[in-house]
Amino acid sequence: MTAIPLALGRRSPAASAPPADGALVDTHGRVHRDLRISLTDRCSLRCSYCMPEQGNQWLARTSILSVAEITAVARVAASIGISTFRLTGGEPLLRPDIVEVVAALAALRGPDGPVEVAMTTNGIALPGLLEELLAAGLRRLNISIDTLRRDRFAALTRRDRLAEVRRGIAAAARSGLRPLKLNAVAMRGINDDELADLVEFAVAHGAEMRFIEQMPLDAGHTWDRAAMVTREEILTALAARWSLTPLPGRHGAPAERWLLDDGPAAVGVIAAVTAPFCGDCDRLRLTADGQLRNCLFSTGEFDLLPALRSGAPADAAIEATLRRCVWAKLPGHAINDPAFLQPARGMNAIGG
Ligand code: 5AD
Ligand code: SF4
Repeated sequence: MTAIPLALGRRSPAASAPPADGALVDTHGRVHRDLRISLTDRCSLRCSYCMPEQGNQWLARTSILSVAEITAVARVAASIGISTFRLTGGEPLLRPDIVEVVAALAALRGPDGPVEVAMTTNGIALPGLLEELLAAGLRRLNISIDTLRRDRFAALTRRDRLAEVRRGIAAAARSGLRPLKLNAVAMRGINDDELADLVEFAVAHGAEMRFIEQMPLDAGHTWDRAAMVTREEILTALAARWSLTPLPGRHGAPAERWLLDDGPAAVGVIAAVTAPFCGDCDRLRLTADGQLRNCLFSTGEFDLLPALRSGAPADAAIEATLRRCVWAKLPGHAINDPAFLQPARGMNAIGG
């Protein structure tokens, strides 16, 4: 690297302090409005791109945030402009207090009005919980389903539970909650021959299918670029079945969307590896053990436990930590850089 980028570069985050008030802005001008909250690193599945089959280093139980602690962070975040909270895991529905979490977050208001509470789930526990979750204020659901074949599902997730996922999706479809989104990580030799089937399945449930490029986040560190199915390949496969018309209005969302034939059904692609959307990123993450992360791929974290557990009023310290974390955010992930370092945590311990 030459000296020129350094000379022209923005002030290094370490050399300056974040603004003391106003929105949650970083050194690249990105305003942060979306906080992903991981509620647990536990899961009822063991997807190979996320967790090892055995030998997980589970987070210490005592470090897992309580509902009151999560709410304390979220209340401060909402007051400085976070307007969407997305609950993730692991599997968020494994938290026995999940309905309480949703209710506490849905009651928050920010400067621009009420916040929105969303969830990404594997769907297994939805049938028994959905009614309560909706009554508590859940507004958006993303359900993961990578394959429609029982044998493939069992091999990929190491659990024979596809029928339960399907029942969860059916329950969500019946509930009328829209938009309803289904997520699949596209994988060569695993589900790349059923992309169109997955789209048909989603459409039949009044849902929108979204394909995600596989990212290097598996706890086993086995990600291989050659095995990754790219955005281009996904679009080629879908274009054999539908005419695809790009939809405008992405507004910083990770997914690019296309109308299927003349619509109204659509499909989304999240091309985090081949077409990174970091320049528009407005997301921040809170792990189940109280660590703030400014990127899925951060190698550093900002610990909220001292502020939350000191016994002293925590709001000012939480706000300062949120601002420091956002201020330290790099312009983008470096998956495509040969020097890329995979984060130590697996996806299940970061939150999707
Ligand atoms: N690459 C891409 N997506 C992933 N997810 C989990 N691990 C990965 C990965 N390595 C997705 C899941 C789910 C969401 C929580 O994140 O499929 O849809
Ligand atoms: Fe569980 Fe989601 Fe990880 Fe699969 S990707 S093991 S469903 S947390």
